[in-house]
Amino acid sequence: MTRSLGVCYYPEHWPEEIWSQDAARMAEAGLTWVRIGEFAWSRLEPTPGQLEFDWLDRAIAVLGAAGLKVVLGTPTATPPRWMLDRHPDMLAVDAQGHPRKFGSRRHYCFSHTGYLGECQRIVTLLAERYGSSPHVAAWQTDNEYGCHDTIHSYSDAARSAFRDWLAQKYQSMDALNRAWGNVFWSMEYASFDQIDLPNLTVTEPNPAHVMDFRRFSSDQVVAFNRAQARIIRRYSSAPITHNYMGRITEFDHWAVGADLDIASWDSYPLGFLSDRLEASATHKAAFLRQGDPDFQAFHHDLYRGVGRGRWWVMEQQPGPVNWAPYNPAPLPGMVRLWTWEAFAHGAEAVCYFRWRQAPFGQEQMHAGLLRPDSAPAPALAEAAQVARELTDAPEQGCAPGDVALVFDYESAWAWTTQPQGADFDYFRLCFAWYRALRRLGLNIDIIPPDAEDLSPWRLVLAPGLFTLSDRLRAALPSCRGAVVFGPRANARTRDFAIPDPLPPDLPGLDAKVARVQSLPPGASEMLDTGGSFVHWVEDIETTAETPIRRQDGSPALIRHDAMHYLAGWPDDATLTEILRGICADQGIATLDLPPQLRLRDSGGRRYIFNHGDETIVWQGRSIAPAGVDIRAID
Ligand code: GAL
Repeated sequence: MTRSLGVCYYPEHWPEEIWSQDAARMAEAGLTWVRIGEFAWSRLEPTPGQLEFDWLDRAIAVLGAAGLKVVLGTPTATPPRWMLDRHPDMLAVDAQGHPRKFGSRRHYCFSHTGYLGECQRIVTLLAERYGSSPHVAAWQTDNEYGCHDTIHSYSDAARSAFRDWLAQKYQSMDALNRAWGNVFWSMEYASFDQIDLPNLTVTEPNPAHVMDFRRFSSDQVVAFNRAQARIIRRYSSAPITHNYMGRITEFDHWAVGADLDIASWDSYPLGFLSDRLEASATHKAAFLRQGDPDFQAFHHDLYRGVGRGRWWVMEQQPGPVNWAPYNPAPLPGMVRLWTWEAFAHGAEAVCYFRWRQAPFGQEQMHAGLLRPDSAPAPALAEAAQVARELTDAPEQGCAPGDVALVFDYESAWAWTTQPQGADFDYFRLCFAWYRALRRLGLNIDIIPPDAEDLSPWRLVLAPGLFTLSDRLRAALPSCRGAVVFGPRANARTRDFAIPDPLPPDLPGLDAKVARVQSLPPGASEMLDTGGSFVHWVEDIETTAETPIRRQDGSPALIRHDAMHYLAGWPDDATLTEILRGICADQGIATLDLPPQLRLRDSGGRRYIFNHGDETIVWQGRSIAPAGVDIRAID
């Protein structure tokens, strides 16, 4: 697999006279890809039906003439102002019942059929015109589904689509009332038309109702994306991607990804560290200019899975961003490190966001590869360095990892719907397990909750998996080693009820969760091996082997043959040691990496990344701050 670099470019932001200089400079820096068009609807169709594609023809021709390959974005994340005059009720509505107004972006409701029709129209026009362009070598649908909290809409369109969705699913009111347990609090309905969206209720709405609303909302995204992908495929054989975001869990990326050829995501390590990661102030200070050492890798591994092996970084942070509470500059070398880290995890391409910093609009404080005056910003040289390094690097793919971690969007919805403890968050739980595995120096694959074959791995982990699907249950024996389920696994039926028999109900493991408790910050339950459970603790009745107990004697880790269950949420250090022990039992070699050092084995090479701001000596080699060390492995 060849690996390449690219950049996000907005020809509509710049005078046409400079396009060819820009294109020449991109090519000179060693870039291959240029993504354009994803916000340009008002320039493609300034008034309804008035199509002005000539400028885009010329932009694509100029970029193509410089040898660049274009990723063409569909502009559906930014409907122009006139769209609202045609479809005044197309805006999404927030949980408080307020419309999410025009004036920024993503101002649409996925359930509005009139807006969907407009999207199908513009995508058809673009695909017809550019589907056989020699320069358009990939497509991107929309932009960052779910960013700015845009999956759940409480609009009239959403309400009527939800009722249809429920009628399809349940067929009868009796079935729905039974599935949701509506006898509770006299919530029974006599017809689908009586069912509202689960917002503005006096107190907590029925969790089964909320779960179905979340499933419905995710299905609306899948349908919206599929509609675009189907049109593009009629006119083009180029691959189609969508640029996902970091830590967005409100829609099922596995389901969206099934309709696409490549998964891509937008990697903003410093923004993410600042605004979407639970971590101590010391950790955030230590990695202020480097980003969290595991957060990007988690998403690389997740999106490699979502893309069935094919994935990109569509937007790579090049300098300070504009949107986090604080926006420091990366340490020199980090842009290069982030790029190589993506390649080590199997990325086909890494594109920087954006070419030139915009002197106007919302993102004028966001760095680019060029400053607003077109002088190079620091990231340009780092990008060009990677481009040079790539020409000497052998082509490579990405081998299966040592360990698989199940990641399930429905579980994220379930535990958001009924968290039971303010600190129980599914992403946070999975990320804690991921981080522990990385500390052990393991290569991780992230897999869907309906995986059919676990034979590539000697360790499969599924913390917090809310329902164990029949498919995954059937696949468990194919794992070549241990399977470890974690707290709250299989704790609800699909209808959001406590199952009978009681959880975890795992094959071969005699165990019942008799009681659960959530703990506030600072509270913990000590384990007999040292360390503790925090956030979440379960009391288990079991006859299984119990390698670890709480200090009060209750089972903490239980197992029968390969099947393990961990009945709580360990603190980070304890979790690492528990997983180290399980690896040792399976004969999986582990390391003990310092917090700033991370590695990934790929294509016969070991990539070692120093995320620290000081030189580190490891296994006899000295690695500079923000340094990347690449070694051949036997
Ligand atoms: C992304 C988005 C881009 C740009 C960027 C700024 O979320 O896709 O359009 O806004 O953030 O960091």
